[in-house]
Amino acid sequence: MDTFGGGLAAIGNTPMVRLGRLVPQGAAEVWVKLEGTNPTGSYKDRMAISLLTQAMQRGDLSKGDTVVEFTGGSTGTALAFVSGVLGLNFTAVFSDAFSYSKQQAMEAFGATVLVEKCVDGKITHDLAERMKLRALALAEQPSHYYADQFGSADVREGYVPMGQEIARSLADGIDAVCAGVGTGAALMGMLDGLKKQGMEPQVFALEPTQSPLLTTGQSGGHKVEGISVFPDPPFLDRSELSGVRAVDQDKAFAMCRRLAREEGIFGGGSTGLNVCAAIDLAVELGAGKRVVTLSCDNGVKYLGGPIYA
Ligand SMILES: Cc1ncc(COP(=O)(O)O)c(C=O)c1O
Repeated sequence: MDTFGGGLAAIGNTPMVRLGRLVPQGAAEVWVKLEGTNPTGSYKDRMAISLLTQAMQRGDLSKGDTVVEFTGGSTGTALAFVSGVLGLNFTAVFSDAFSYSKQQAMEAFGATVLVEKCVDGKITHDLAERMKLRALALAEQPSHYYADQFGSADVREGYVPMGQEIARSLADGIDAVCAGVGTGAALMGMLDGLKKQGMEPQVFALEPTQSPLLTTGQSGGHKVEGISVFPDPPFLDRSELSGVRAVDQDKAFAMCRRLAREEGIFGGGSTGLNVCAAIDLAVELGAGKRVVTLSCDNGVKYLGGPIYA
């Protein structure tokens, strides 16, 4: 990644830390990759640079073109940041169902933000469909490019360096990895990177108990942003999994607070959920083994919401 200029050179090479206080005696080691230290505070920077640079290398996208995506904000902020540095324009189809600070962040990186109105402040399937259709219609214009965060193979590819970094940090072995699944790109791309370095740990996909789409097919209202979005996540390859586990969102949020106060790790709800599952796995695997999980993004984004209230 360090061949890129400006803030792009700061994507990736994130720190790995070992939990010191939250793991019971006799359990395996738990290591957490701190992805909130990426420039926009999220591992989405990895997929944005992969998606846009590969499209440019293929000639599908050129300087001065406009990238279009519909987004709840984190992916949009990463795309806005990378687009700006690569000399691209970025138009986000956003909604007032998501936090205004995310709109401000996209605009700070130079994006044009179009706001699709929601009903009663709620994120609904109908809203997502309207946002998607608006983005697709915009992308039909000349010199416009639909980023396709839910379909482009470049998204999963973007997380391969994350897996390789983890393998290099813990070169003497990893027994299990676990992570919450939205599209599944981060978990699968991480696994691809680990495999490239010759590692084949057990792999666990995670979801909130309140919306057990992967384990039961039933969706439900939940507040763990970024995960349990699709019944069939576009990048998840179930044949690679050792298991799927559901974690209670209230336990995940309580874990976020403990992570901040006792370990100095400040993350969002998916981070708390990942660490809950990683500690359970560590207890099951026992001493001498090693579990790795992800702190997906920075907790600052969640200060107004239910996690740190
Ligand atoms: C905070 C957060 N955690 C986890 C995820 C899930 O990542 P993926 O879509 O790669 O499975 C996302 C994706 O939007 C996210 O924003």
